[in-house]
Amino acid sequence: MRKTIYTMNQTAAHTEIMHASNNKTNTFYADVIAGLQSTPKHLNSKYFYDAVGDKIFQELMDCPEYYPTNCELEIFSTKTAALGQSIIGDGDAFDLIELGAGDATKSTHLLKYLQDQHVDFTYLPIDISSNVINYLTVKLPLSIPGLKMNGLNGEYFDMLKKAASLSNRRKVVLFMGSNIGNMPVNEATEFCKVLREHLNTGDMALIGFDLKKSPKIILAAYNDSEGITKRFNLNLLLRINRELDANFDVTQFDHYATYDPETGACKSYLISQKNQLVTIGKETIRFIKDEYIYMEISQKFTIMQTDQMATNTGFRPIDRFFDIKKWFVDTVWMAE
Ligand code: AVI
Repeated sequence: MRKTIYTMNQTAAHTEIMHASNNKTNTFYADVIAGLQSTPKHLNSKYFYDAVGDKIFQELMDCPEYYPTNCELEIFSTKTAALGQSIIGDGDAFDLIELGAGDATKSTHLLKYLQDQHVDFTYLPIDISSNVINYLTVKLPLSIPGLKMNGLNGEYFDMLKKAASLSNRRKVVLFMGSNIGNMPVNEATEFCKVLREHLNTGDMALIGFDLKKSPKIILAAYNDSEGITKRFNLNLLLRINRELDANFDVTQFDHYATYDPETGACKSYLISQKNQLVTIGKETIRFIKDEYIYMEISQKFTIMQTDQMATNTGFRPIDRFFDIKKWFVDTVWMAE
C-alpha cells in the first residue's frame, strides 16, 4: 500500500487515503448500527481506542485500582533475563513480532536485554495505528542503539503474513496486556488457532493473561473510584456522536461493571437512564429505561485454562512468568 502511494502523484495519493478513511467510517457505522439494532444491544470494544480513548486508557493504566498493566510491567522489568532466555531458545536468529505494540513500554525491557546480550533478532511491532508505528520507528532506535526493527502498520494477521514473507527466520510473537481477554473464550481460542496457522513448528508465542483473583479486586479495576472506566466507556458514545453524526446524551447513560467468579467474565455495560431516542446518521435507536448496551468483556483465566488453550490450539506451554502477587501471567508457548 505505502509503496503504491510513493509512486502516485499527490492528488491520487490523497484520493486513496480518503477512500481508506471512508471505508473505515463505513465499517464503523455498519458495526454500530448492527450492534444497537440487536437484542441485546452491544458495541465492539475495539472502537474504544480513538485519540481521546487512547488518552483515557493511559489514565486508567495509571490509576491505582487498574492493576494488570503494573503487574505485567513488573514481570517485564524484574524477570527480563529469564523471559529473554526463554525466547532465545537454542540461540538461532529470530523475528520478535509484537501484536498491538502501543508505546512498547513493557517490551522495551526485553528488547534492551536481547540487544545487550548481542542476540541476533529483528523487532517487528504490528499496530493498526500508523501513528504508533511512526512513533516507535523514531523512538526505539534512540533508546536502544543498534536495534534492528521494521514496523508493520495494519491488521494483525495481514501483517503476520507480511512478516513471514520478509524472512524465514524463527518467529516469536508477543501478545501482551491481557488483550486476549477482550475476546470471549471461544473467540480467543479461535484467535490462537489462526495464530498457530500463521506460524511454523518451533515458533513461539508469549501471551499475557489476567488471572482469576479476589472478585473485589477485579471489580474495582473495572469500576474505579475516580470514574475513569466510566468515561472510557462513555467516550465510545461521544466518538459515535463525533464521527457518525449522532446525538447521544451521555448524561443519560450510566456505567455498570460485573464480575462472575465462576466463569471469570468481567463485563461492562452502559445503562440507559430513561426512555430515549438516539439518532445516528439516518437511523433512530430506541432505548427503554434501564436497557443496557453490552460494551466489553475482560476475561480472567486460571493457569489450567491457559494451558488448555495452548494445547487445544496447537501449542505446548513451555514457560510462565508471574508478578509477585500472582495476579497476572505471561506464558510462553511453542508451536507444535
Ligand atoms: C486493553 N484491555 C486489556 C483492557 C482490559 O483490561 O480489558 C481494556 C480495559 N477496559 C476497561 N479497563 C481496561
